[in-house]
Amino acid sequence: MSNTIFVTGATGNVGSQVVQQLIASGITPRVAVRSLNKAESLQKAGAEPVEMDLDRLETIQPAFTGVDKVFLVSPFVPNMVELTAILVKAAKQANVRHIVKLSALAQPGIALSKWHEEMENAIAFSGIPFTFLRPNGFMQNFATAMAETIKADNAFYLNAGEGKVSFVDTRDIASVAVAALTTSGHEGQSYTITGSEALSHSQAAAILSQVLGRTINYVDVPEDAVRQGMQGAGMPEPTVNALLELYASYKARQAAAVSPVVEQVTGKQPISFEQFVKDYAEVWK
Ligand SMILES: NC(=O)c1ccc[n+]([C@@H]2O[C@H](COP(=O)([O-])OP(=O)(O)OC[C@H]3O[C@@H](n4cnc5c(N)ncnc54)[C@H](OP(=O)(O)O)[C@@H]3O)[C@@H](O)[C@H]2O)c1
Repeated sequence: MSNTIFVTGATGNVGSQVVQQLIASGITPRVAVRSLNKAESLQKAGAEPVEMDLDRLETIQPAFTGVDKVFLVSPFVPNMVELTAILVKAAKQANVRHIVKLSALAQPGIALSKWHEEMENAIAFSGIPFTFLRPNGFMQNFATAMAETIKADNAFYLNAGEGKVSFVDTRDIASVAVAALTTSGHEGQSYTITGSEALSHSQAAAILSQVLGRTINYVDVPEDAVRQGMQGAGMPEPTVNALLELYASYKARQAAAVSPVVEQVTGKQPISFEQFVKDYAEVWK
């Protein structure tokens, strides 16, 4: 029987960390890539790149041939539910034995949670054993989506009020994923994954300021301003609406609960926000 672990979204926030950690533990993961230059660096790092572009359906089934386990990332696009259904079908056809799916924190009444729930249901319905990872907001969003204005204006702009969020480092999510892919006892589990404390965006700004040695401000802006910013960046309408709902849920303090899963599954304390900022300090220079 094949032992091949296939990582989709391998160049993304979480998938790239899953790939690194699998390689560090002596495993050669198969990794999905859309572009050849990314394939080269992943191959050098010790992975087996395979071309898979969800917009070119003919590339999907071949990528799954001989695969035993999958780390499944659904790109955050308006048709993510449909694309994931195609991936699940390909996994079923390839007799995959375990899917570890990156979902999101389950929250009542928001589209993002509903979409992830639909995708989880498709996996459960397929009969393939699964583990669902449901992380809260990534700390790394401060180093990606928010990095530009932090660098340019020493500020980030959001409509999350003072609601606290138990942000989680993607390296911790990856550690839970790698445990689920390589050790037993995780099938049928749904893991809520958070950091060890909940922080408001003002508190996050204070930690950024203290570690980076300059003042970084969180500016709580009206929802319309955030909407215009996202529209201006070319984001599709369903994505804009889903993110605004998510930030409103932060404001309504629905994302503050802390879960013990990282420590329970990996034996390590979750990475703190302060440590995250120290590790990524170069990004905001
Ligand atoms: N950000 C958060 O705070 C947060 C929190 C909880 C859950 N989530 C969930 O996390 C998931 C996203 O994970 P992520 O942030 O690790 O990913 P990401 O950084 O957004 O990267 C997306 C990955 O998917 C690949 N991809 C995108 N479109 C593709 C296509 N058409 N065909 C093939 N590959 C494609 C990208 O490849 P390229 O490099 O080629 O573009 C990349 O590897 C979403 O489902 C989101 O709901 C996010």
